[in-house]
Amino acid sequence: MSDTIPAPIPFVDIPGQVRRLRDRIDARVRRVLDHGQFILGPEVRELEQALSDYVGGAHVVTTGSGHDAILMGLMAEGIGPGDAVFVPAFTFVSTAEAVASVGAVPIFVDVDEHSFTMDPLDLERRIAKVRRDGTWRPRAVMPVDIFGMPADYAALGAVAGAAGLFLLSDAAQSFGGTIGNQRVGRLAHATMTSFFPAKPLGAAGDGGALFTDDPARADTYRRLRNHGQDARGECLSVGLTGRLDTLQAAILLVKLEAFPDDLIRREAAARRYDAALARHVAVPHRPADTTCAWALYTILSDRRDAIRAALAAENIPSRVYYEQALHLHAAFAASSEGPGSLPVTERLGQRNLSLPIHAELDAATIDRITAIVAAAAG
Ligand SMILES: Cc1ncc(COP(=O)(O)O)c(C=O)c1O
Repeated sequence: MSDTIPAPIPFVDIPGQVRRLRDRIDARVRRVLDHGQFILGPEVRELEQALSDYVGGAHVVTTGSGHDAILMGLMAEGIGPGDAVFVPAFTFVSTAEAVASVGAVPIFVDVDEHSFTMDPLDLERRIAKVRRDGTWRPRAVMPVDIFGMPADYAALGAVAGAAGLFLLSDAAQSFGGTIGNQRVGRLAHATMTSFFPAKPLGAAGDGGALFTDDPARADTYRRLRNHGQDARGECLSVGLTGRLDTLQAAILLVKLEAFPDDLIRREAAARRYDAALARHVAVPHRPADTTCAWALYTILSDRRDAIRAALAAENIPSRVYYEQALHLHAAFAASSEGPGSLPVTERLGQRNLSLPIHAELDAATIDRITAIVAAAAG
């Protein structure tokens, strides 16, 4: 350990990325300030087209946040009171909160211990149990592409399909990920992502998007994000104020241009971490034929707290996502089976640690981090 504490390094270097793109962002923002169409201005449509091109042709409806997108994804299917939506508990609160907000119940499914994403076998068991109990009506399955790694949509889609359930993808963390030649956005009936600033494709504020291959469903999303109104202004069903600001769309257009290169930088950082750490901790699992957007780079170790302390002593940030799984939060007690009901999820909470990852992270900084992690992990 050094005598003087080095300057802090960012966990996600958002100002660094903005510096790199600043001229183009300024020009785009200036144009919006000049035309003044701050709500559903031309950049919103332009971004939706650019996102559609990026994912290979899905219909895209941008939203005020990833959470709004999930709400609308559920509302569009008429999911509400009496309905059950199967979700992982190893995720950010928004996943289950959105389900509860539309009046349905989140039924928690355990995750695979390697990929950290929804376990298809446990999904099958939980669907059968809900059907047996008869209290709630199974309606949909919503896996989460945790940390940026797409879930196993082939297996999960097969279970959902056999049970007649709709497949939504909480892809808040995984925009830019792929399975085979399909990008996130094309892997489920409906996909919701987030442009929260720290996400792989981040705005300068809140933002999100819905993706679907079904034009009628996209029309419904467009209506829902604008108070449920149709083109004539009639409110056909209750909706939200769920629109992406034009200014955010303008900034995202610049960031989307840089996105393929950012993903390459993130992948290079992840590979450098893997190479240095694989002998010391469990490094992220890479399912066959799948690429990750690296929203987070997350290791597992029984010495997690010692690693964390060693990094903190050198002014290096690390975070635990997620220490308290959602089935243990008071808000979800009604449908939770309590402690011990999701053993893999609960074990992950004790052992996971996320290290800095972003497109500005240089090799020397990664080497500094991995040296500390390796020494503390033993
Ligand atoms: C897994 C997951 N779902 C949903 C959300 C909600 O996205 P937002 O913050 O844009 O509302 C987030 C991110 O914050 C997330 O990580």
